[in-house]
Amino acid sequence: MDYTFLVEKAIEAKKNAMPTYSNFYVGAALLTEDGKIYSGCNVESSSYSLTMCAERTAIFKAVSEGERKFKAIAIAADTIEFCSPCGACRQIISDICKDIDIVLTNQKKEIKILRTKDLLPFAFEDIDLKTKTS
Ligand code: THU
Repeated sequence: MDYTFLVEKAIEAKKNAMPTYSNFYVGAALLTEDGKIYSGCNVESSSYSLTMCAERTAIFKAVSEGERKFKAIAIAADTIEFCSPCGACRQIISDICKDIDIVLTNQKKEIKILRTKDLLPFAFEDIDLKTKTS
């Protein structure tokens, strides 16, 4: 699938980032199964650990609008290499979006497509919460 349109949305979302402390701008665009797109950017706090990543901003926006089925997420930063989601975002993508296309890009707008399971193999999942023995 050609995800150029989704990458463009992620690049657009990056402009709204608020990377007050890191100056690292990130944008994300989440595609639902029925073709809607929710964008997100990173938003930082002076209490650094409260920072929210672009991917989770997009996912939480979509969920709060009632979306439950997803197809792909594109992530854009001003990096030479492909910008890959952090560990926390991988867990949230796995939990909420399941095994979707993760569309990475770089400054040159080259595209690399991976699956959630490529980036988070042997993930902790909700089923694990239900199979404990005591
Ligand atoms: N960041 C994201 O938005 N997504 C990622 O997957 C990696 C990191 C943000 C968080 C923080 O605002 C800045 O990039 C530097 O870590």
